[in-house]
Amino acid sequence: MKLSTYEPDALQPGARSLSYGVFCWLNRHITVLRALGALLRRWPSVGGLFGMVARASAVKDVLTRTRSFSNTAHAANMVSGDYLIGMDPGPTYSADRDLVHARLAALDVPADSDAEAQRRIKDLSKPGAAEFDLIDDYLMWVVFHAMRPLFGDAIGAVVAGSATNAAQGDVDEGLQRQYMLEIRYVAGQLLAGNLATLDLRRRAESCGDALQARIDRVTGPIGAAWGVKSSSEDIERNAVGLAWISHPVTVQSGALVMQELLGRQKVYEQLRSRARALGESRVWTDPDFRKAVRNHVLELMRFRPIFPLLARDVPRDTEMETGARSNAGCPGGGKVSLLSIAALFDPSAVPQSGRFCPNRDWGSEDALRYLMFGYGYRQCPARDYAVDILTSALIGLLTLPRLQLARGEGKAIAYDGPLMLCMRMRIT
Ligand code: HEM
Repeated sequence: MKLSTYEPDALQPGARSLSYGVFCWLNRHITVLRALGALLRRWPSVGGLFGMVARASAVKDVLTRTRSFSNTAHAANMVSGDYLIGMDPGPTYSADRDLVHARLAALDVPADSDAEAQRRIKDLSKPGAAEFDLIDDYLMWVVFHAMRPLFGDAIGAVVAGSATNAAQGDVDEGLQRQYMLEIRYVAGQLLAGNLATLDLRRRAESCGDALQARIDRVTGPIGAAWGVKSSSEDIERNAVGLAWISHPVTVQSGALVMQELLGRQKVYEQLRSRARALGESRVWTDPDFRKAVRNHVLELMRFRPIFPLLARDVPRDTEMETGARSNAGCPGGGKVSLLSIAALFDPSAVPQSGRFCPNRDWGSEDALRYLMFGYGYRQCPARDYAVDILTSALIGLLTLPRLQLARGEGKAIAYDGPLMLCMRMRIT
Protein backbone atom coordinates (compact mmCIF):
# COMPACT_ATOMS: atom_id res chain seq x y z
CA MET A 1 0.00 0.00 0.00
CA LYS A 2 1.34 3.42 -0.94
CA LEU A 3 0.67 6.27 1.43
CA SER A 4 0.64 9.93 0.50
CA THR A 5 4.07 11.17 -0.42
CA TYR A 6 2.49 14.09 -2.15
CA GLU A 7 4.68 16.93 -3.39
CA PRO A 8 2.93 20.28 -3.07
CA ASP A 9 5.18 21.98 -5.59
CA ALA A 10 4.03 19.52 -8.20
CA LEU A 11 0.51 20.96 -7.92
CA GLN A 12 -0.83 23.15 -10.73
CA PRO A 13 -1.51 26.71 -9.44
CA GLY A 14 -5.27 26.24 -9.90
CA ALA A 15 -5.26 22.94 -8.05
CA ARG A 16 -3.17 24.46 -5.29
CA SER A 17 -5.55 27.41 -4.84
CA LEU A 18 -8.50 25.06 -4.80
CA SER A 19 -7.03 22.66 -2.27
CA TYR A 20 -5.84 25.55 -0.11
CA GLY A 21 -9.34 27.08 -0.28
CA VAL A 22 -10.88 23.76 0.80
CA PHE A 23 -8.36 23.47 3.62
CA CYS A 24 -9.14 27.00 4.92
CA TRP A 25 -12.88 26.44 4.57
CA LEU A 26 -12.63 23.24 6.62
CA ASN A 27 -10.61 25.08 9.27
CA ARG A 28 -13.33 27.69 9.56
CA HIS A 29 -16.14 25.15 9.46
CA ILE A 30 -14.78 22.93 12.11
CA THR A 31 -18.03 20.98 12.49
CA VAL A 32 -17.57 19.66 8.94
CA LEU A 33 -14.05 18.55 9.84
CA ARG A 34 -15.48 16.89 12.94
CA ALA A 35 -18.04 15.05 10.80
CA LEU A 36 -15.28 13.84 8.46
CA GLY A 37 -13.32 12.78 11.52
CA ALA A 38 -16.33 10.81 12.78
CA LEU A 39 -16.50 8.95 9.45
CA LEU A 40 -12.82 8.05 9.62
CA ARG A 41 -13.22 6.92 13.24
CA ARG A 42 -16.04 4.66 12.06
CA TRP A 43 -14.07 3.25 9.11
CA PRO A 44 -10.43 3.51 10.20
CA SER A 45 -9.20 1.34 7.33
CA VAL A 46 -10.33 4.04 4.86
CA GLY A 47 -8.23 6.63 6.72
CA GLY A 48 -5.36 4.16 6.79
CA LEU A 49 -5.38 4.03 2.97
CA PHE A 50 -4.64 7.77 2.92
CA GLY A 51 -2.23 7.78 5.84
CA MET A 52 -4.76 9.27 8.27
CA VAL A 53 -5.69 8.29 11.78
CA ALA A 54 -8.73 9.53 13.69
CA ARG A 55 -9.37 7.30 16.69
CA ALA A 56 -8.02 8.60 20.01
CA SER A 57 -6.01 5.43 20.64
CA ALA A 58 -4.40 5.61 17.18
CA VAL A 59 -3.60 9.34 17.39
CA LYS A 60 -2.01 8.86 20.81
CA ASP A 61 -0.07 5.87 19.55
CA VAL A 62 1.44 7.76 16.61
CA LEU A 63 2.28 10.80 18.75
CA THR A 64 4.15 8.69 21.27
CA ARG A 65 6.21 6.80 18.64
CA THR A 66 8.55 9.73 18.14
CA ARG A 67 11.24 7.69 16.34
CA SER A 68 8.85 6.23 13.77
CA PHE A 69 6.82 9.40 13.19
CA SER A 70 8.96 12.49 13.03
CA ASN A 71 8.27 16.16 13.79
CA THR A 72 10.37 17.10 10.75
CA ALA A 73 7.01 17.33 8.94
CA HIS A 74 6.88 20.91 10.31
CA ALA A 75 10.29 21.85 8.94
CA ALA A 76 9.13 22.70 5.41
CA ASN A 77 6.78 25.33 6.84
CA MET A 78 9.25 27.00 9.17
CA VAL A 79 10.14 29.97 7.01
CA SER A 80 12.54 31.57 9.48
CA GLY A 81 14.78 28.54 9.92
CA ASP A 82 15.04 25.49 12.10
CA TYR A 83 13.58 25.33 15.60
CA LEU A 84 12.69 22.77 18.25
CA ILE A 85 9.22 21.89 16.98
CA GLY A 86 10.58 20.66 13.64
CA MET A 87 13.68 18.83 14.93
CA ASP A 88 14.43 15.21 15.52
CA PRO A 89 15.83 14.31 18.96
CA GLY A 90 19.57 14.95 19.35
CA PRO A 91 21.96 17.27 21.20
CA THR A 92 20.59 20.45 19.57
CA TYR A 93 17.02 19.42 20.33
CA SER A 94 17.90 18.71 23.98
CA ALA A 95 19.79 21.99 24.46
CA ASP A 96 17.01 24.04 22.85
CA ARG A 97 14.39 22.25 24.92
CA ASP A 98 16.30 23.04 28.14
CA LEU A 99 16.49 26.65 27.06
CA VAL A 100 12.78 26.92 26.35
CA HIS A 101 11.99 25.46 29.77
CA ALA A 102 14.36 27.96 31.43
CA ARG A 103 12.77 30.88 29.56
CA LEU A 104 9.24 29.71 30.38
CA ALA A 105 10.21 29.58 34.06
CA ALA A 106 10.85 33.33 33.84
CA LEU A 107 7.21 34.03 32.93
CA ASP A 108 5.02 35.50 35.62
CA VAL A 109 1.57 34.37 34.61
CA PRO A 110 -1.17 34.87 35.51
CA ALA A 111 0.08 38.07 37.25
CA ASP A 112 1.31 39.70 34.00
CA SER A 113 -1.62 38.53 31.88
CA ASP A 114 -4.10 39.66 34.54
CA ALA A 115 -2.44 43.08 34.79
CA GLU A 116 -2.51 43.70 31.03
CA ALA A 117 -6.05 42.34 30.68
CA GLN A 118 -7.19 44.74 33.42
CA ARG A 119 -5.40 47.66 31.81
CA ARG A 120 -6.92 47.00 28.37
CA ILE A 121 -10.40 46.33 29.78
CA LYS A 122 -10.25 49.69 31.56
CA ASP A 123 -9.58 51.37 28.22
CA LEU A 124 -12.34 49.42 26.51
CA SER A 125 -14.80 50.35 29.25
CA LYS A 126 -14.36 54.10 28.80
CA PRO A 127 -17.60 55.93 28.06
CA GLY A 128 -18.29 56.01 24.35
CA ALA A 129 -16.24 52.88 23.55
CA ALA A 130 -18.80 50.81 21.67
CA GLU A 131 -16.66 48.64 19.39
CA PHE A 132 -13.22 47.11 19.50
CA ASP A 133 -11.14 44.54 17.73
CA LEU A 134 -10.64 41.51 19.91
CA ILE A 135 -7.28 40.70 18.33
CA ASP A 136 -5.76 44.12 17.68
CA ASP A 137 -7.01 45.94 20.75
CA TYR A 138 -6.92 43.18 23.32
CA LEU A 139 -5.57 39.66 22.84
CA MET A 140 -2.38 40.73 21.05
CA TRP A 141 -1.40 42.88 24.01
CA VAL A 142 -2.40 40.52 26.79
CA VAL A 143 -0.27 37.78 25.23
CA PHE A 144 2.59 40.17 24.39
CA HIS A 145 2.88 41.38 27.98
CA ALA A 146 2.68 37.85 29.35
CA MET A 147 5.46 36.71 26.98
CA ARG A 148 7.86 39.64 27.52
CA PRO A 149 9.98 37.79 30.12
CA LEU A 150 10.92 35.22 27.45
CA PHE A 151 13.46 37.82 26.32
CA GLY A 152 14.07 39.38 29.74
CA ASP A 153 15.83 42.76 29.59
CA ALA A 154 16.39 42.32 25.86
CA ILE A 155 12.70 42.64 24.96
CA GLY A 156 13.04 46.30 23.96
CA ALA A 157 15.98 45.50 21.69
CA VAL A 158 14.10 42.56 20.13
CA VAL A 159 11.04 44.66 19.39
CA ALA A 160 13.05 47.58 18.03
CA GLY A 161 15.47 45.27 16.19
CA SER A 162 18.28 47.42 17.51
CA ALA A 163 20.81 47.11 20.31
CA THR A 164 21.27 50.85 20.82
CA ASN A 165 20.58 52.33 24.25
CA ALA A 166 17.33 53.86 23.05
CA ALA A 167 16.00 50.38 22.37
CA GLN A 168 16.73 49.02 25.84
CA GLY A 169 13.74 50.62 27.54
CA ASP A 170 10.10 50.49 26.53
CA VAL A 171 9.55 50.64 22.82
CA ASP A 172 6.55 52.51 21.44
CA GLU A 173 3.38 50.61 20.56
CA GLY A 174 3.77 51.19 16.83
CA LEU A 175 7.01 49.20 16.77
CA GLN A 176 5.52 46.57 19.04
CA ARG A 177 2.64 46.17 16.58
CA GLN A 178 5.06 45.90 13.65
CA TYR A 179 6.93 43.14 15.47
CA MET A 180 3.69 41.27 16.16
CA LEU A 181 2.64 41.47 12.52
CA GLU A 182 5.96 40.07 11.42
CA ILE A 183 5.76 37.05 13.72
CA ARG A 184 2.10 36.49 12.86
CA TYR A 185 2.83 35.59 9.24
CA VAL A 186 5.82 33.45 10.13
CA ALA A 187 3.63 31.39 12.46
CA GLY A 188 0.79 31.55 9.93
CA GLN A 189 2.85 29.49 7.49
CA LEU A 190 3.04 26.67 10.04
CA LEU A 191 -0.76 26.68 10.20
CA ALA A 192 -1.28 27.07 6.46
CA GLY A 193 1.06 24.16 5.78
CA ASN A 194 2.25 22.81 2.47
CA LEU A 195 -0.92 23.79 0.69
CA ALA A 196 -0.39 27.57 1.12
CA THR A 197 -0.40 29.43 -2.17
CA LEU A 198 2.95 30.68 -3.37
CA ASP A 199 1.98 34.32 -2.70
CA LEU A 200 1.29 33.54 0.93
CA ARG A 201 4.46 31.55 1.23
CA ARG A 202 6.42 34.47 -0.24
CA ARG A 203 4.94 36.89 2.29
CA ALA A 204 5.73 34.50 5.13
CA GLU A 205 9.28 34.12 3.83
CA SER A 206 9.88 37.87 3.72
CA CYS A 207 8.53 38.23 7.27
CA GLY A 208 10.76 35.30 8.26
CA ASP A 209 13.79 37.07 6.76
CA ALA A 210 12.89 40.30 8.55
CA LEU A 211 12.54 38.45 11.85
CA GLN A 212 15.91 36.78 11.37
CA ALA A 213 17.57 40.09 10.51
CA ARG A 214 16.04 41.81 13.55
CA ILE A 215 17.23 39.05 15.91
CA ASP A 216 20.64 38.88 14.24
CA ARG A 217 21.27 42.50 15.28
CA VAL A 218 20.47 41.83 18.94
CA THR A 219 21.91 38.41 19.79
CA GLY A 220 24.35 40.18 22.18
CA PRO A 221 21.62 41.68 24.43
CA ILE A 222 19.59 38.45 24.23
CA GLY A 223 22.56 36.28 25.28
CA ALA A 224 23.23 38.68 28.18
CA ALA A 225 19.56 38.65 29.25
CA TRP A 226 19.47 34.87 29.11
CA GLY A 227 22.80 34.55 30.89
CA VAL A 228 24.08 32.08 28.28
CA LYS A 229 27.39 31.85 26.52
CA SER A 230 26.09 29.92 23.50
CA SER A 231 27.23 30.81 20.01
CA SER A 232 25.29 33.61 18.40
CA GLU A 233 23.94 31.03 15.95
CA ASP A 234 22.33 29.07 18.82
CA ILE A 235 20.95 32.24 20.39
CA GLU A 236 19.56 33.37 17.06
CA ARG A 237 17.82 30.05 16.33
CA ASN A 238 16.17 29.99 19.75
CA ALA A 239 15.24 33.67 19.82
CA VAL A 240 13.71 33.56 16.34
CA GLY A 241 11.84 30.35 17.21
CA LEU A 242 10.58 31.60 20.55
CA ALA A 243 9.38 34.84 18.99
CA TRP A 244 7.11 33.27 16.38
CA ILE A 245 6.02 30.19 18.25
CA SER A 246 4.89 31.89 21.46
CA HIS A 247 2.67 34.80 20.51
CA PRO A 248 0.51 34.30 17.38
CA VAL A 249 -0.72 30.81 18.22
CA THR A 250 -1.85 31.94 21.67
CA VAL A 251 -3.59 35.01 20.24
CA GLN A 252 -5.39 32.93 17.61
CA SER A 253 -6.43 30.37 20.21
CA GLY A 254 -7.90 33.20 22.30
CA ALA A 255 -9.92 34.43 19.33
CA LEU A 256 -11.16 30.89 18.62
CA VAL A 257 -12.14 30.45 22.26
CA MET A 258 -14.19 33.65 22.18
CA GLN A 259 -15.75 32.76 18.83
CA GLU A 260 -16.91 29.44 20.26
CA LEU A 261 -18.17 31.05 23.45
CA LEU A 262 -20.22 33.65 21.59
CA GLY A 263 -21.88 30.79 19.72
CA ARG A 264 -22.99 29.38 23.09
CA GLN A 265 -25.03 32.24 24.50
CA LYS A 266 -26.30 30.29 27.50
CA VAL A 267 -22.81 29.34 28.63
CA TYR A 268 -21.60 32.89 28.03
CA GLU A 269 -24.44 34.38 30.07
CA GLN A 270 -23.85 31.95 32.93
CA LEU A 271 -20.18 32.92 33.13
CA ARG A 272 -21.01 36.62 32.86
CA SER A 273 -23.53 36.48 35.65
CA ARG A 274 -21.01 34.69 37.89
CA ALA A 275 -18.50 37.44 37.08
CA ARG A 276 -21.08 40.14 37.84
CA ALA A 277 -21.97 38.53 41.17
CA LEU A 278 -18.30 38.49 42.20
CA GLY A 279 -17.75 42.14 41.37
CA GLU A 280 -14.85 44.06 39.87
CA SER A 281 -12.04 42.97 42.14
CA ARG A 282 -13.03 39.48 43.35
CA VAL A 283 -13.51 38.36 39.77
CA TRP A 284 -9.71 38.36 39.52
CA THR A 285 -8.98 36.75 42.87
CA ASP A 286 -11.68 34.14 43.41
CA PRO A 287 -9.97 30.75 42.93
CA ASP A 288 -13.19 28.85 42.17
CA PHE A 289 -14.17 31.28 39.45
CA ARG A 290 -10.70 31.15 37.90
CA LYS A 291 -10.84 27.37 37.93
CA ALA A 292 -14.25 27.42 36.27
CA VAL A 293 -13.04 29.84 33.58
CA ARG A 294 -9.95 27.68 32.99
CA ASN A 295 -12.14 24.60 32.52
CA HIS A 296 -14.26 26.55 30.06
CA VAL A 297 -11.15 27.66 28.14
CA LEU A 298 -10.07 24.03 27.73
CA GLU A 299 -13.51 22.87 26.66
CA LEU A 300 -13.88 25.77 24.21
CA MET A 301 -10.46 24.90 22.77
CA ARG A 302 -11.59 21.29 22.35
CA PHE A 303 -14.40 22.51 20.12
CA ARG A 304 -12.10 24.87 18.19
CA PRO A 305 -8.48 23.69 18.40
CA ILE A 306 -6.04 25.82 16.46
CA PHE A 307 -4.31 22.66 15.19
CA PRO A 308 -7.20 20.34 14.28
CA LEU A 309 -4.69 18.25 12.31
CA LEU A 310 -1.06 17.37 12.95
CA ALA A 311 1.37 15.83 10.49
CA ARG A 312 4.35 13.56 10.91
CA ASP A 313 7.08 12.44 8.53
CA VAL A 314 7.76 8.75 8.19
CA PRO A 315 11.55 8.39 8.04
CA ARG A 316 11.56 4.62 7.32
CA ASP A 317 9.07 1.89 6.48
CA THR A 318 6.77 1.10 9.37
CA GLU A 319 3.15 0.35 10.21
CA MET A 320 0.59 2.14 12.30
CA GLU A 321 -2.50 1.03 14.16
CA THR A 322 -5.60 2.81 12.95
CA GLY A 323 -8.15 0.79 14.89
CA ALA A 324 -8.95 -1.36 11.82
CA ARG A 325 -8.39 -5.12 11.87
CA SER A 326 -5.01 -4.79 10.19
CA ASN A 327 -2.37 -2.11 10.53
CA ALA A 328 -1.77 0.50 7.82
CA GLY A 329 1.60 0.32 6.11
CA CYS A 330 3.61 3.54 6.18
CA PRO A 331 6.37 3.60 3.58
CA GLY A 332 9.52 5.53 4.44
CA GLY A 333 9.60 9.00 2.88
CA GLY A 334 5.84 9.51 3.28
CA LYS A 335 3.73 11.48 5.71
CA VAL A 336 0.86 10.68 8.03
CA SER A 337 -1.92 13.00 9.16
CA LEU A 338 -3.47 12.87 12.59
CA LEU A 339 -6.97 14.20 13.05
CA SER A 340 -6.65 15.51 16.60
CA ILE A 341 -10.13 17.01 16.26
CA ALA A 342 -11.56 13.51 15.71
CA ALA A 343 -9.62 12.07 18.66
CA LEU A 344 -10.90 14.85 20.95
CA PHE A 345 -14.45 13.72 20.16
CA ASP A 346 -13.87 9.97 20.23
CA PRO A 347 -16.73 8.58 22.36
CA SER A 348 -14.68 5.52 23.30
CA ALA A 349 -12.22 7.79 25.15
CA VAL A 350 -14.23 10.89 26.05
CA PRO A 351 -17.49 10.48 27.99
CA GLN A 352 -20.39 12.30 26.30
CA SER A 353 -17.90 13.56 23.78
CA GLY A 354 -20.38 15.62 21.73
CA ARG A 355 -21.61 17.64 24.73
CA PHE A 356 -20.12 20.91 25.90
CA CYS A 357 -19.08 19.91 29.36
CA PRO A 358 -16.32 21.97 31.05
CA ASN A 359 -16.48 19.89 34.23
CA ARG A 360 -16.24 16.50 32.55
CA ASP A 361 -14.37 13.88 34.56
CA TRP A 362 -11.71 12.71 32.11
CA GLY A 363 -10.60 9.92 34.43
CA SER A 364 -7.67 7.98 32.99
CA GLU A 365 -7.84 10.07 29.78
CA ASP A 366 -6.87 13.34 31.48
CA ALA A 367 -3.82 13.70 29.21
CA LEU A 368 -6.07 13.52 26.14
CA ARG A 369 -7.90 16.59 27.38
CA TYR A 370 -4.82 18.59 26.35
CA LEU A 371 -4.48 17.14 22.86
CA MET A 372 -4.90 20.69 21.46
CA PHE A 373 -1.30 21.07 22.67
CA GLY A 374 -0.06 17.80 21.22
CA TYR A 375 0.55 14.65 23.21
CA GLY A 376 3.40 12.82 24.92
CA TYR A 377 7.02 13.90 24.87
CA ARG A 378 6.57 16.44 22.05
CA GLN A 379 3.63 18.16 23.68
CA CYS A 380 3.75 21.95 23.89
CA PRO A 381 6.04 22.91 26.79
CA ALA A 382 4.03 26.13 27.29
CA ARG A 383 0.69 24.36 27.67
CA ASP A 384 -0.19 25.48 31.18
CA TYR A 385 1.16 28.99 30.71
CA ALA A 386 -0.94 29.42 27.58
CA VAL A 387 -4.09 28.19 29.34
CA ASP A 388 -3.41 30.61 32.21
CA ILE A 389 -3.02 33.53 29.79
CA LEU A 390 -6.25 32.67 27.97
CA THR A 391 -7.98 32.36 31.34
CA SER A 392 -6.87 35.90 32.27
CA ALA A 393 -8.02 37.17 28.87
CA LEU A 394 -11.43 35.55 29.22
CA ILE A 395 -11.94 36.79 32.79
CA GLY A 396 -11.32 40.32 31.52
CA LEU A 397 -13.85 39.94 28.71
CA LEU A 398 -16.44 38.60 31.13
CA THR A 399 -16.27 41.84 33.11
CA LEU A 400 -17.45 43.86 30.10
CA PRO A 401 -21.11 44.39 29.25
CA ARG A 402 -22.52 41.78 26.86
CA LEU A 403 -20.39 41.39 23.71
CA GLN A 404 -21.44 40.33 20.26
CA LEU A 405 -19.77 40.17 16.88
CA ALA A 406 -20.06 43.60 15.19
CA ARG A 407 -21.94 42.53 12.09
CA GLY A 408 -22.85 46.05 10.93
CA GLU A 409 -20.57 47.16 8.10
CA GLY A 410 -18.62 44.39 6.48
CA LYS A 411 -17.75 41.17 8.13
CA ALA A 412 -16.98 41.04 11.83
CA ILE A 413 -14.26 38.46 11.29
CA ALA A 414 -11.62 38.97 8.60
CA TYR A 415 -9.64 35.90 7.63
CA ASP A 416 -6.30 35.53 5.97
CA GLY A 417 -6.15 31.86 5.05
CA PRO A 418 -6.63 29.90 8.26
CA LEU A 419 -5.69 32.97 10.37
CA MET A 420 -8.20 35.39 11.84
CA LEU A 421 -6.77 38.87 11.28
CA CYS A 422 -9.43 40.75 13.17
CA MET A 423 -12.59 40.07 15.08
CA ARG A 424 -14.71 43.18 15.63
CA MET A 425 -16.82 43.14 18.76
CA ARG A 426 -19.70 45.36 19.77
CA ILE A 427 -20.31 46.19 23.41
CA THR A 428 -24.08 46.11 23.83
C1 HEM B 1 -2.77 28.35 23.04
C2 HEM B 1 -1.51 28.41 22.68
C3 HEM B 1 -0.71 27.26 22.13
C4 HEM B 1 -1.13 26.14 21.47
C5 HEM B 1 -2.55 25.72 21.11
C6 HEM B 1 0.07 25.37 21.16
C7 HEM B 1 0.06 24.16 20.50
C8 HEM B 1 1.17 23.38 20.30
C9 HEM B 1 1.15 22.07 19.70
C10 HEM B 1 -0.10 21.35 19.18
C11 HEM B 1 2.41 21.60 19.70
C12 HEM B 1 2.87 20.23 19.25
C13 HEM B 1 3.01 20.15 17.76
C14 HEM B 1 3.28 18.73 17.31
O1 HEM B 1 3.29 17.79 18.12
O2 HEM B 1 3.48 18.57 16.11
C15 HEM B 1 3.26 22.63 20.27
C16 HEM B 1 4.61 22.53 20.40
C17 HEM B 1 5.40 23.53 20.87
N1 HEM B 1 4.99 24.73 21.42
FE1 HEM B 1 3.08 25.36 21.64
N2 HEM B 1 1.16 26.03 21.64
C18 HEM B 1 0.74 27.19 22.24
C19 HEM B 1 1.51 28.15 22.85
C20 HEM B 1 2.89 28.10 22.94
C21 HEM B 1 3.68 29.10 23.60
C22 HEM B 1 3.16 30.34 24.33
C23 HEM B 1 4.99 28.71 23.47
C24 HEM B 1 6.13 29.48 24.04
C25 HEM B 1 7.32 29.17 24.18
C26 HEM B 1 4.99 27.44 22.72
C27 HEM B 1 6.11 26.70 22.39
C28 HEM B 1 6.09 25.45 21.79
C29 HEM B 1 7.29 24.68 21.48
C30 HEM B 1 8.73 25.12 21.73
C31 HEM B 1 6.86 23.47 20.91
C32 HEM B 1 7.74 22.33 20.40
C33 HEM B 1 7.94 21.26 21.47
C34 HEM B 1 8.73 20.06 20.97
O3 HEM B 1 8.67 19.73 19.79
O4 HEM B 1 9.41 19.46 21.81
N3 HEM B 1 3.70 27.11 22.42
N4 HEM B 1 2.47 23.70 20.65
